[in-house]
Amino acid sequence: MKETIEMTQGKLGADLEKSVASMVDSIRIVPHQEIAIVELDQKDSKVNKWSTPMMMRLRQVIEELKKSSYQGVVFISRKPKIFVAGADIDEIRDLKTKEEFSRAVAEGQSIFNMIEDLPMVTVAAIHGAAAGGGCEFALACDYRIATEDGSTRIGLPEVKLGIIPGFGGCVRLPKVVGLQAALDIILQGKLLAAKKAGKVGLVDLVVHENLLEKYALDFVREKKGQKRPVAYRSRGLVNQFLDSWLGAKIVFQQAQKSVLKATKGHYPAPLKALEVIRKTYGMADRERALAIEREGFCEVAVTQISKNLIHVFDLTEMVKKQTGVEGVTVEPKAVRHISVLGAGTMGGGIAYVAADRGIEVRLKDINLVALAKGVQHARNLWEKLLNKKVIDQYEFQQKMARVSGGTDYSDFKRTDLVVEAIVEDMEIKKKVIHELSHHIRPETIVVTNTSSLSVTEMAKAFPRPELFAGMHFFNPVDKMPLVEVIRGEKTSDVTVATVFDLAKKMGKMPVVVKDGPGFFVNRLLLPYMAEAAFLLQEGQDIERVDRAYEYGFGMPMGPFALMDEVGLDVCLKVLKIFKKSFPDRIEMAPFLEKLEGLKDRLGRKTKLGFYLYDYKGYREKVDPQIYSVLGLNPPRNPLSDEDCVDRGVYAMINEAARALWTDRIVASAAEADLAMIMGTGFPPFRGGLLKFADQIGLEHIIGRLEEFGRTYARLRVSSELREVNKQGGFYKAFPKKGLH
Ligand SMILES: NC(=O)c1ccc[n+]([C@@H]2O[C@H](COP(=O)([O-])OP(=O)(O)OC[C@H]3O[C@@H](n4cnc5c(N)ncnc54)[C@H](O)[C@@H]3O)[C@@H](O)[C@H]2O)c1
Repeated sequence: MKETIEMTQGKLGADLEKSVASMVDSIRIVPHQEIAIVELDQKDSKVNKWSTPMMMRLRQVIEELKKSSYQGVVFISRKPKIFVAGADIDEIRDLKTKEEFSRAVAEGQSIFNMIEDLPMVTVAAIHGAAAGGGCEFALACDYRIATEDGSTRIGLPEVKLGIIPGFGGCVRLPKVVGLQAALDIILQGKLLAAKKAGKVGLVDLVVHENLLEKYALDFVREKKGQKRPVAYRSRGLVNQFLDSWLGAKIVFQQAQKSVLKATKGHYPAPLKALEVIRKTYGMADRERALAIEREGFCEVAVTQISKNLIHVFDLTEMVKKQTGVEGVTVEPKAVRHISVLGAGTMGGGIAYVAADRGIEVRLKDINLVALAKGVQHARNLWEKLLNKKVIDQYEFQQKMARVSGGTDYSDFKRTDLVVEAIVEDMEIKKKVIHELSHHIRPETIVVTNTSSLSVTEMAKAFPRPELFAGMHFFNPVDKMPLVEVIRGEKTSDVTVATVFDLAKKMGKMPVVVKDGPGFFVNRLLLPYMAEAAFLLQEGQDIERVDRAYEYGFGMPMGPFALMDEVGLDVCLKVLKIFKKSFPDRIEMAPFLEKLEGLKDRLGRKTKLGFYLYDYKGYREKVDPQIYSVLGLNPPRNPLSDEDCVDRGVYAMINEAARALWTDRIVASAAEADLAMIMGTGFPPFRGGLLKFADQIGLEHIIGRLEEFGRTYARLRVSSELREVNKQGGFYKAFPKKGLH
């Protein structure tokens, strides 16, 4: 960064000078008669991204073009599926102060201004991702052409990293696509497929990949030197109104409301982007508008929230590089065909995600009605995509054709991997797994989707335990990104790597965990839900507790709403199993016994739980009868919201210390955080449960637990948490090599 500073001051640092010199081939001008084709092909990198040396090289190229006699310029990438991925996040991570950010952003803005000011027609020819700074680069060109390929995604996802577009995106996008569409993209951090980008006017032409360069050259020639008109012209009456003074006012008000609803006030970046766009929309003075954007960018970029969101981004990048096995190179086996035993809630969902990603699936159930329901579940999800035009009829048919079903083992000899998703009963599962072993090839891997039973124990029923593992999906499978890959005592490295790879192919985030009660995520969630029950027992109001967690802390929903989602019968069953495994710290609030006999009150699935649900299953309000039904007095709220949240969240942190320190259930704090974010929706802006714990400080958490522990034995500080504190926190005690 120091070098960027020197650069803006006119003194190119010697090191930077060298790296810019080495970038000569990364951005090169290839003359094509009267047109300059500018090829982007960043050296020693799989992708093009705006690092400082790349930006400096771009500046040199623009200077050269400015002096040239070319009639037009086509910017095109020579990377297979990337136009420009965005700004270099490694550099963003290193910047600390507003001043440092401001200098770096000013540099980017000035280079993109130079592109905008080039005298000849400029076209961005986009194939692959043009995200963030990549999209802003394209916006600085006069025109944009994109390929219809699935890899082409164009947009401004900055808010997902807690920042806002800073290289002119907030200022230029509304001019190109209009206010409404620009807010839609920027405030939600959207990336658009080429067709959609064409529809909103973000790209001018959508072409086949093989014709991209040719069309871009033709396009430049057809324009005969005509640069793009600077101001956006609304199309249609509605858009004309929305872009009027009054219309824009309404659009801004609505956008503010939607942002606050979606973020519950926890994410400052979308609000900041909105403020910047409101101030700069329609502003003729480019420099002033960009200064406002820059200022807004710096304000959010220095926040801890942005650092935490970048950390979450790093966690997801970490998974991309992992194989599931540390220290040795293991090749996963190819999985083209899977079979799923049990076509219930989970089996149907698993069949859907697998077939959706091109894997052939055979479903088997003992019950024909359940089987039909499982297939129908997948069909319904694809039909939704078809109706929304995300997929076409042909793709729909292709996906459907990948799922077949039956009540016997036919087709199982073809299968590379079997997922067991039948009833949660060890004896039945063992019996079925043993029977299954006679119907598959000797090399077929078998995984169980159990949520609470021992994988090592279950493997005893399988003649080749090295080919047996756990693959724990979360409900609903199509929405929840986490898959816990459970390594049993005898599971081989190749099996782990294959299951890990398969989860990634299914579009999921796998985390390897060791066998143990509740594996990782449920092991932490159980004390959390059990604690919520005690809050209710002590006289807290259900809605108030849920609001404190959801709006105060940022969880996707409060613990009572969560228990309703999971199913109250399931929660009770698992709590009892846990109580056996951890009698010292799992206690059950006395009212829970009353719940046991209430078969019509199982949560959302019976449309009645702590909450009432409408006929479509939408949560309406807390059931006013619930307190009397459970034999509780009307709530009098003896506890503060802070105590309520601390008790639940710190109970999870206490349990996490035990799971990591003694049992080594997950290998690192980073993987633990990824699992909690992807498996429970733990608020990403907090960086993960353990990142949050380290930031709050374990001293403070231990102090609070000591306070609670005087009254409630289950909340006493674990010796493991004290050990982790001695090591300087979770991320120091359980580091992840290679993670920033
Ligand atoms: N539902 C969840 O939230 C959730 C989450 C993660 C894991 N799990 C686990 O996934 C597994 C399945 O749970 P579910 O919620 O889908 O249950 P479910 O009751 O909805 O479905 C189970 C299906 O298995 C079928 N079945 C029973 N015996 C069979 C056999 N011998 N061969 C083939 N099919 C058989 C049943 O007919 C039923 O259709 C359980 O182990 C559960 O613990 C469930």
